[in-house]
Amino acid sequence: MPGTAIIGLQWGDEAKGKIVDLLTEQNDIVVRYQGGANAGHTVVFGGKKYKLSLVPSGIFRPQVQCVIAGGVVLNPKSILEEIGGLTAQGITIGKNLLISDRANVIFPWHALEDQIFNSIGGGESIGTTGRGIGPCYQDKAGRSLAVRLGDFYKPDFKAKIENIVRVKNRIFAGLRAADGAGGTLNADEIFTEFTAYGERLRPFVADTTDYLLNAVDADKRILFEGAQGSLLDIDHGTFPYVTSSNSSGTGISSGSGVPAHFLKKIIGIVKAYTTRVGGGPCPTEQDNGIGQKIRDRGNEYGTVTKRPRRCGWFDAVAVRYSARLSGVDVLSIMLLDVLSSFEELKICTAYNIDGQTVKHFPSQFEDLRKAEPVYETLPGWKEEIDSVRRYSDLPDNAQNYVKRISELVGKPVEIVSVGPDRTQTILVN
Ligand code: IMP
Repeated sequence: MPGTAIIGLQWGDEAKGKIVDLLTEQNDIVVRYQGGANAGHTVVFGGKKYKLSLVPSGIFRPQVQCVIAGGVVLNPKSILEEIGGLTAQGITIGKNLLISDRANVIFPWHALEDQIFNSIGGGESIGTTGRGIGPCYQDKAGRSLAVRLGDFYKPDFKAKIENIVRVKNRIFAGLRAADGAGGTLNADEIFTEFTAYGERLRPFVADTTDYLLNAVDADKRILFEGAQGSLLDIDHGTFPYVTSSNSSGTGISSGSGVPAHFLKKIIGIVKAYTTRVGGGPCPTEQDNGIGQKIRDRGNEYGTVTKRPRRCGWFDAVAVRYSARLSGVDVLSIMLLDVLSSFEELKICTAYNIDGQTVKHFPSQFEDLRKAEPVYETLPGWKEEIDSVRRYSDLPDNAQNYVKRISELVGKPVEIVSVGPDRTQTILVN
């Protein structure tokens, strides 16, 4: 059976959770494979709102097995809170959730480092979510100061924590002397606190790579749920204004352990416009009344950090790039209803950089920062469309807008979403 993936094609927050939730019904397993609690999904059904951060959106269907794979960085306290919150809302979480023993764990020093390096690194801040995601991946790559979930259950766990805290405290002392930044960590307190988390997480911990490879052999249907968006990919995004994992389609295999050729369908998720949180270039940003109108209508405030999102017109240059990068087969266009009532709509079809017309997405953020969008203008539509359920019932101008995005990005559109509820979904064709 084929594997399917849901990948965001912009700078995150494309409403991927809704599509994952819809598709879980047709799958046996849903996998989160990169990122951490920097992601935030909202799933709405039956008049209730559920907030997810690390738990896969498949958790709402009891027959679906949810997997948090080894490419993820795990904050034990926040995942336990998330599980607790969902349980309190009546969602059953038990054997239907597996967490990889290979997942690297976020400790209090990582959040401290996130704050320090955001402020003393010089230049524009990356504007991270402050969750310690980057520093945890940093330690993973460095290896000697890394702790994986499987380490919690080994006899040398206490010694490991003590050694790391000793090193981190020396680093913080040096930074404090130089910049007044940093804190002091207490190894005993951290060991006690995290040992308790480890015990509560124990029932979920597994070798998820082995589990998924067996599932592939058994012809199970697996849905891979990407977090963040392709343009935040550590290798292929707007570096250094990116997250610390491969958030494009390139990360599926490394994060989950499932070979890339198992994937048979990749669905690229885009908003009908552009948003970005944090620093970094965003050529089509509208820092004006248009951007504010999109923010108001789309409630564009971060699920995790509550920061107002930067809003702007749809950037077809960026999305064409990310759709190709992520190997996308079809598009799902989200939040089309937000664009109702605009007199006219713009789509960026090229960039003007230093007097040259550029149609590819630049590899250097400085070039992207200089990019002046070349826009195509399309007529808008007045009607609210949140109750439309058939594609042919959308206003002509809305259909034309969808068609034009598809042409410019070079991929067919399979789904159009006109509201947050499961039912506010239009299947094209
Ligand atoms: P970090 O992932 O916390 O290190 O943040 C790095 C950059 O990625 C910042 O610009 C964040 O705003 C952005 N980012 C991280 N996670 C998300 C997400 O789920 N949605 C949108 N932006 C995100």
